[in-house]
Amino acid sequence: MNLKIAVLAGDGIGPEISEQGVAVMTAVAEKFGHTVTYKSAICGADAIDKVGDPFPEETFQTCMEADAVLFSAVGDPKFDNDPTAKVRPEQGLLAMRKKLGLYANIRPVETFDCLVHKSPLKDELVRGADFICIRELTGGMYFGEKYQDNDKAYDTNFYSRPEVERILRVGYDYARRRRKHLTVVDKANVLASSRLWRQIAKEMAPQYPDVETDFMYVDNASMRMIQDPKFFDVMVTENTFGDILTDEGSCITGSMGLLPSASTGEHTPVFEPIHGSWPQAKGQNIANPLAQILSVAMLYEYFGLAAEGRLIREAVNASLDANVRTPEIQVEGGAKYGTREVGAWIVEYIKTHQ
Ligand code: IPM
Ligand code: MN
Repeated sequence: MNLKIAVLAGDGIGPEISEQGVAVMTAVAEKFGHTVTYKSAICGADAIDKVGDPFPEETFQTCMEADAVLFSAVGDPKFDNDPTAKVRPEQGLLAMRKKLGLYANIRPVETFDCLVHKSPLKDELVRGADFICIRELTGGMYFGEKYQDNDKAYDTNFYSRPEVERILRVGYDYARRRRKHLTVVDKANVLASSRLWRQIAKEMAPQYPDVETDFMYVDNASMRMIQDPKFFDVMVTENTFGDILTDEGSCITGSMGLLPSASTGEHTPVFEPIHGSWPQAKGQNIANPLAQILSVAMLYEYFGLAAEGRLIREAVNASLDANVRTPEIQVEGGAKYGTREVGAWIVEYIKTHQ
């Protein structure tokens, strides 16, 4: 297969983990006989500094012309501490989602047996937990009408029927391929937008008789996620709830540095770690590249290349088992591996295994 990849490394630890993602992508391509070409483009704070726009038109064009985007992270503290800043790196991420029509954000919450002890939850609750959160990504409060003056402000949680239908369909499709259990997370006891979601889901459920559909209020779901994470198979929810619940989900697994994600929709899909730009670690070769590397696995799988994805996942598991780990997950007294060393080990594994 020929794949054109737009590489958006962004800010903070972004460039370092991006480099490892690309190295793994290339190693897999060589192994399986694919041709991958890369084109880098700027985004986030880096792009604000260079051209005053966190998602410049040229970057958008590079994304549109690519088959997939390998994205790393955006964000810089100099903007967080400046409430008067007119442009922020995060706006680049939101612009990318909106302009590429990436309405479905797929965030798998998978646990690694050897890291279960890192979870704040009890071993027996976490071991074997494996669910996917499908977060609606281009609607709701993030993009609804907004207003702010000195005395009042509002954000509108707007959803239309087609927006709800298409994301529920993604939820059902995933549930069908998994354990056939879909949980629609909403706040239908209070919010009109949630009542629309629930109504549409109830209309659609009979089309998926093989899937068990249940409904859960978001406050209850956030509790259930830590009391009994194994309850969930696929959950589907609106933008803001999904943002909050997936941070909770990542925490359950023991390290945020391990979770990849895919955002898909109308145009080029984007694959990225769910963690941020960790500016304090920039340039120190300590950031965990695994979430980025697993994003590459999701990228290959998206194009139907299951064996390629499997080899990456196997290499990641092998690196963890061999204690080739970045500091935040290394065992006590274990050897020190940096971002580059973990990446290089995984590349070597891919080259030498089938
Ligand atoms: C995420 C992030 C973003 C979001 C921020 C950086 C705008 O938290 O991808 O979850 O809120 O969607
Ligand atoms: Mn978030």
